[in-house]
Amino acid sequence: MSKRRVVVTECPGGPLLVRGADEVVGVDGTAAPVERAVVAVCRCGRSDRLPWCDDSHRDRRRKRSP
Ligand code: FES
Repeated sequence: MSKRRVVVTECPGGPLLVRGADEVVGVDGTAAPVERAVVAVCRCGRSDRLPWCDDSHRDRRRKRSP
């Protein structure tokens, strides 16, 4: 079995960008296949497409602004 490099990059206030993964496993143990070179994984829990980010985290940021 060959080693594969997976790179995870944090987007401040947003998702984790995951490069090189075959699948992402959610907290419930469900595996979601990765079909792109880079995927955005939700960290805020507001996405309607978990485990993927759907930009709902941006709504939260807007609500905090005056
Ligand atoms: S991080 Fe983008 S919707 Fe959760």
